[in-house]
Amino acid sequence: MLELCVCIGSSCHIKGSYNVIQTFQQLIEEEALHDKITFKSSFCQKQCQHPGVAVSVDGIIHQVSTEKAKEFFITQVITKV
Ligand code: FES
Repeated sequence: MLELCVCIGSSCHIKGSYNVIQTFQQLIEEEALHDKITFKSSFCQKQCQHPGVAVSVDGIIHQVSTEKAKEFFITQVITKV
């Protein structure tokens, strides 16, 4: 089970975490990945200084912009499930 976690702290919220979550949820639905991905949200992951929303994949933190959320999911998430 892959753990995918999107930061919903205030800084990431401003950077578009809601849109990133929507994109990920849609892709999990489309690809029927509910039983392969644990999808969570978290408070601040202490990455506010970086551009993009903090997203962790099995504990490894990445920076994801709303525009790149789909591409990120395809390259960094689907490939690991
Ligand atoms: S609010 Fe997301 S890393 Fe700080």
